[in-house]
Amino acid sequence: MLPGAPHLVRNGAGTLTLDGLALADLAREFGSPLYVYSQQAMLDALAPYQRALAGRRHQICYAMKANSNLAVLQTFARAGCGLDIVSGGELLRAQAAGVPGEHIVFSGVGKTPAEMRAALQYGVRCFNVESLPELDTLSAEAVAQGRRAPVSLRVNPDVDAGTHPYISTGLRDNKFGVPHDAARAAYRHAASLPGLEVVGIDCHIGSQITQIAPYLDALDRLLDLVEALADDGIPLHHIDVGGGLGIRYADEDPPAADALIAQLLQRLDARGHGQRELLMEPGRSLVGNAGVLLTQVQVLKPGPSKNFCIVDAAMNDLVRPAMYEAWMAIEACQARPGPATTWDVVGPVCESGDWIGRERALAVQPGDVLAVLSAGAYGMAMASNYNTRPRAAEVLIVGGQPQLVREREQVAQLFAGERLLA
Ligand code: LLP
Repeated sequence: MLPGAPHLVRNGAGTLTLDGLALADLAREFGSPLYVYSQQAMLDALAPYQRALAGRRHQICYAMKANSNLAVLQTFARAGCGLDIVSGGELLRAQAAGVPGEHIVFSGVGKTPAEMRAALQYGVRCFNVESLPELDTLSAEAVAQGRRAPVSLRVNPDVDAGTHPYISTGLRDNKFGVPHDAARAAYRHAASLPGLEVVGIDCHIGSQITQIAPYLDALDRLLDLVEALADDGIPLHHIDVGGGLGIRYADEDPPAADALIAQLLQRLDARGHGQRELLMEPGRSLVGNAGVLLTQVQVLKPGPSKNFCIVDAAMNDLVRPAMYEAWMAIEACQARPGPATTWDVVGPVCESGDWIGRERALAVQPGDVLAVLSAGAYGMAMASNYNTRPRAAEVLIVGGQPQLVREREQVAQLFAGERLLA
């Protein structure tokens, strides 16, 4: 079964479809490279989170860094989600999508005073604070506005999420969060500051996590603190367990969101914390398998040791393979009869690191359209303009109809802000 199924299906005629639409047709209509997402696949990924949390005090804050297109934000906001943001830019996007402040948590290890001011003005529900200096700065900014900033401390629980080192965030050596053994003192400091109101605790231990155990370990570490802080007279209202649930790119077998949540709730209940509000910040698991990147084959270049299939998407469009050696499935949008050849699927950017997939068996000809699967998360969101390449367009399929939700960037836009020497 393809990652992305049941929305992504190859029909009897060998045509790859998303929500019943032939992907090659979409590439012809909207151009290539092109990101295409299924709104229904996003909602279906959200459903097990909502089902498992129904009847509990909770808020799901979609981590918009995974895919911050305004139409995607609207999709989750209309479905009842809040947002996890990490920059002033994401705050403005959230505003543009009409997401109210009380549904937003603000994470990030290096918030600037200007970002804090903007978020305070917008009335975000919680600042997830990562250091003592950040507490002091935030308090001062809040006092200057005559407000109190709601804060949670991001605690680094020092658990190994068992994922790629670049996307593991809950280990002692990571830059993130307040060390577990320093958190109690940090909370006391926070509670003493005039501009802060301590409301919760949070953690985020990594991304593309495929096991439940690290979540339970992290939750236990947080609950130890919650209990110690209650003794200190600092009650915490919510517990935010972060994001990080993995998806299937190849043969991974991550737990379903409802299975994960059932175990988290069981642990909360067992330790007498069932009444506390649970926050979650999923990103990848809500959008990753809801999207594909379409790219057209430009040149086939068989060689003595390797065969190269050169496509019109590159590391600037999708950096995950180059950056993390991530494996993402690649499928021809229209199957061809005949034998497959082994290709390295690469982009036109001037670096050997510019590859999308290595040693893939594909039957392709120039002009064919390929789909890179599981590209809904950290695809377009990490795209750049390297080699002065305009970023791709984005299409969201809504109710079976393709909607252009981001125009293709024009080259002239890329240097419009630059100035020639006098
Ligand atoms: N909350 C916080 C504070 C985070 O730092 C992240 C992701 C999330 C939530 C969402 O995590 P998710 O559910 O998406 O795993 N670019 C990398 C992934 C980086 C994740 C960074 N933090 C990739 O393409 O694999």
